[in-house]
Amino acid sequence: MEVVKEAKTMQDISESLRRTGKIITLVPTMGVLHQGHLKLMEEAKNAGDILVISIFVNPTQFGPNEDYERYPRAFENDKKLAEGIGVDYIFYPSVEEMYPKNFSTYVTVEEYSKKLCGKSRPTHFRGVTTIVAKLFNIIKPHKAFFGWKDAQQLIIIKKMVKDLNMDVEVIGIEIIREPDGLALSSRNEYLSKEERKQALSLSSSLRGVKELVINGVVDTAIIKRRIVDELMLMNLIKIDYVEIVVMTNLDPINQIKEDTLIAIAVWIGKTRLIDNIIIRKEDLPK
Ligand code: PAJ
Repeated sequence: MEVVKEAKTMQDISESLRRTGKIITLVPTMGVLHQGHLKLMEEAKNAGDILVISIFVNPTQFGPNEDYERYPRAFENDKKLAEGIGVDYIFYPSVEEMYPKNFSTYVTVEEYSKKLCGKSRPTHFRGVTTIVAKLFNIIKPHKAFFGWKDAQQLIIIKKMVKDLNMDVEVIGIEIIREPDGLALSSRNEYLSKEERKQALSLSSSLRGVKELVINGVVDTAIIKRRIVDELMLMNLIKIDYVEIVVMTNLDPINQIKEDTLIAIAVWIGKTRLIDNIIIRKEDLPK
């Protein structure tokens, strides 16, 4: 496994791998690797010849009052975990390498970036799409893997790739959870014991509504109310949003149908957590 810090070096490596017909797969991350990241990496490993991961805490996707400085970093441990999966290259650039002085070009997926998380994090997705576009240009992957944990991010990246004719296949991987249901996230490290306990209401309320849908309740106002009521029982939780939208374009809907995304974002103390479920055809009442 090799750690590469310069964009130009990475581009040269990727170019020569491509010339010899190797299939390059990519898992972009911000590090502090957990089982969710590792699952993406395993899938990516099986889907190509050369696995590249990137580790970069991307400043442009954090708002001015967000946790950029506080965001956990654990490169040495990440390196060991990556080695264990069989990662071939870690692209690990500095902020100056990715955003040199006078950097001034951004990629924005207009409408989708204003919805759900975009309402409270207005510049977040611009930062994500800009860095992911750069990573695609630097690493030149044939396939890139993202988690459904960040459903809006995945949908926006798919849209960017389609709109800009990027020659990359974007593959989504299911949410990896703790045995008690909490979706794995690097930000779970911030939670106190009591906050962690209350955080379980995200996944449990989503599981509850899945049951409701299976039993024939498809009115989204009723379902939203159920989730909000369950979350409001938790005194440490402040709801950012509960939204029920069409998976492909993030438009709100009144009746649940095939491929509906039910997404939640909350604050627990200073920590912002998200979770979601997707209702598929097989979950709908027959
Ligand atoms: P990060 O939060 O490190 O996540 C990296 C990838 O792991 C993302 O695609 C995310 O959706 C996925 N992931 C995180 N937790 C997961 C879980 N519990 N189950 C499945 N997948 C999970 O997302 C980012 O970094 C950044 O925005 C990035 C795309 C790297 C751009 O900076």
